[in-house]
This record gives sequence, structure tokens and C-alpha cells, in this order.
Amino acid sequence: MKKILITGGAGFIGSHVVRLFVNNYPEYHIYNLDVLTYAGNLENLTDIQDKSNYTFLKADITDENAILELFKQYQFDGVVHLAAESHVDRSISDPLAFIKTNILGTVNLLNAARTIWKDNMEGKRFYHISTDEVYGSLGETGLFTETTAYDPRSPYSSSKASSDHLVRAYFHTYGMPVVISNCSNNYGPNQFPEKLIPLAINNIKNNKPIPIYGKGENIRDWLYVIDHAIAIDLIFHKGENGETYNIGGNNEWTNIQLIHKLCEVMDDLLGREKGASEKLITFVKDRAGHDMRYAIDSSKLMNELGWEPSLQFEEGIVKTVKWYLANQAWMDNIISGDYEHYYKEQYQDR
Ligand code: NAD
Ligand code: DAU
Repeated sequence: MKKILITGGAGFIGSHVVRLFVNNYPEYHIYNLDVLTYAGNLENLTDIQDKSNYTFLKADITDENAILELFKQYQFDGVVHLAAESHVDRSISDPLAFIKTNILGTVNLLNAARTIWKDNMEGKRFYHISTDEVYGSLGETGLFTETTAYDPRSPYSSSKASSDHLVRAYFHTYGMPVVISNCSNNYGPNQFPEKLIPLAINNIKNNKPIPIYGKGENIRDWLYVIDHAIAIDLIFHKGENGETYNIGGNNEWTNIQLIHKLCEVMDDLLGREKGASEKLITFVKDRAGHDMRYAIDSSKLMNELGWEPSLQFEEGIVKTVKWYLANQAWMDNIISGDYEHYYKEQYQDR
């Protein structure tokens, strides 16, 4: 039985990846390693937690010894590495946390994998999940391809860029069987409400202001989270060692257009008068160094591995809103914790 380590599996994207691997591969044992920061939530995985091919390991990727011991104990055959500090605004207030987890944590995993694989790398794989933000910010035209020069601008994207470089360095220097993917903005169930879409859903539901940074003209390329998980499955199994694959939704929206759409969907689902939720839109101080536009060219992944997004945005956004409305207890558990403090710190002076 293959032993696959998934890091950050209690988070948003990680939990969808863990579920997909546990359900699709009964011949694998899936180890979900997560330290459970504010963003990690085992409630995301209650449906699969008792499966016989699943084990949760509470550990911190910044703890070099603990990570090495786990690799020695379990002898993982493959790693799908998602654990990270992931929110740009938090990286602006606390860059060091991002350096520790995203850079040192990744190196600890690479070193531990190298220690147990160094005599035989056959059939092994270290898959590093990264972001399109490493490529910087686009103007009105153009797309990020796998050969676009790195130009990260936030502490978050710089820490992810650094970890990408280190993963490639282990391929060239030590022959580590690595693969990397860089994905655009994900949306869907289980996303922590610090990110635009779940934050706006929660605020609209509770008739609170929807904070839009600057003029709302920044553009993001949105992909349904399960389509990202499907791409990860494909790249983990079929990607080439040493290669990078871009993953995107081919689905660009300015933030303000997106929020108008969300208001329309929510008015409908909440039985509100048309246009009622739009009154909550509030323009606030812009994010420092706010990247203007991200857009991904996924043609390599589509042409070489046959991936394509399964869900159109119109359908995905309705599905997403329905999930949050049906899972109010999930949201309540999050917003009853440190969230209130975070929200005040982030938004009171904007
Ligand atoms: P998330 O913040 O929802 O989850 C991160 C998970 O990592 C949490 O469960 C957290 O507890 C865990 N974690 C954090 N620090 C850890 C540590 N020191 N040790 C062990 N576990 C730790 O993040 P997400 O949005 O699901 O993103 C997952 C990955 O995908 C990240 O690497 C991110 O850079 C990348 N990514 C995210 C997006 C997106 O739109 N969310 C897009 C492209 C790439
Ligand atoms: O592109 C991939 C990246 O997408 C991932 O690597 C990151 O982990 C993920 O957080 C996401 O980064 P963004 O900064 O694009 O996502 P966020 O949801 O924070 O913001 C989306 C856009 O909305 C961005 O232009 C900032 C804006 N925004 C965000 C928040 C939280 C607002 O206008 N108001 C807000 O309150």
C-alpha cells in the first residue's frame, strides 16, 4: 500500500484534496499532516475521518526534528505539500510567520523526504502546491505561463516564490523527483472567511458592510476548488518530474463585478428584494502593494494531461453560496473564535 503524505489537509484546498485521495485511492494510505492553525479545521473532514485508509497527524512543518521523525516512522512514498500561511493581508502584518512556514517548513519537508528517499528515488514524488501570485501583477492584457519570470510583490507571494525555487533546486541538485503547480484564486466550500468570497457571503447574510479594497478594479481568475483538487490528482500521478503546471479558471472578474454577481445570487437565495444586498458595498482603503491582475494560461495542463475545469462560474458560485447557507454551524464555529479580533484589526481603520 502506498503511503501518501498530504500537508495542510485540514485547510480549505487541502481538505478537498484529502477527501478526493481517500475516496479515489483505497489502495493508498493517506496521512494528513496539519498543525491546525486558525485556518486548519478538522470539521472540514468529518465525512472521511473514520475511513481505514486515513490518518491525521498533528505536527508543525517548521519543527525540523518532528518532521524527520514522522518521515522515518511512516516511510511516505509521496508528498502533496499544501501547508502554508495563505492570506496576503496577514502577510502584510506579520511577514515572519510566512517566512517560517512557507520557506523553512518546505525545506524541512524536502530534507526529510531526501533523507528517507536518497538511496532509491524510484516511484517517489514530492509535489509542491503553489500560486499564480509568484508571477507578479499583469496589466490589462497577457496571461501567466510557466515561463513567466517570477516577480512576487507581497510577503506571501515572495515566500511562496522562494519555496518554489527551493523545490526546483532540490530537483537539480539532488535529483529529487519534484513537480510544482501554480494555481489562480480558488473558491468553494470550506474557505476561511478572511478571503473575499466567504467573507462577503458572511457579511451579506448578516447585513454587514462588504469591504471592497480601493475601487474594486483589481482582477482575479477564479477556479472552483474541486477542479483544483482534480488537477492536483492528475499532476501528482501524470506530471513530469521537474516540470511546472499552471492551473486557472479562464474566468476573470474585477472584484466589484464579482461582488455584484454575489449580491444578485444571494438576494435570490435569501428571498431578498432585487438589489437589496448591493447597498452593503463599501469601498475601503486599498491593500498595500495590491496586485492589479492575475490571469493564468492553463494550456500546458490541458494539452499534456487533458485537464479542464468541470464547472462554469455561474454554477459554481450558486453551489458555493448554497453550501455556506446550509452550513451556518461551520461558519458560526469560526466566527465565534479569534475571528472577531482579526476582523477588527484588519478593517477598523480602513
Ligand atoms: P489555508 O490557509 O486554508 O490552509 C492552510 C493549512 O495549512 C491549514 O490547515 C493550516 O493549519 C496548515 N498549516 C499552516 N501552517 C502550518 C504548519 N506550520 N505546519 C503544518 N500545517 C500548517 O490555505 P489554502 O487556501 O487551502 O491553500 C493551500 C495551499 O494552496 C497553500 O500552499 C497556498 O499557497 C496554495 N494556493 C492557494 C490558493 C487559494 O486560492 N486559496 C490558490 C493557489 C495556491
Ligand atoms: O491567486 C491565488 C491566491 O489567491 C492564493 O495564492 C492566496 O492564498 C489566496 O488568498 C488568494 O489571494 P488574493 O489576495 O487574490 O485573495 P483574497 O480573497 O484575499 O482577495 C481577492 C481580491 O479581493 C483581491 O484583489 C483583494 C480583494 N479584497 C479582499 C478582501 C479580503 C477586497 O476587496 N476586500 C477584502 O475584504
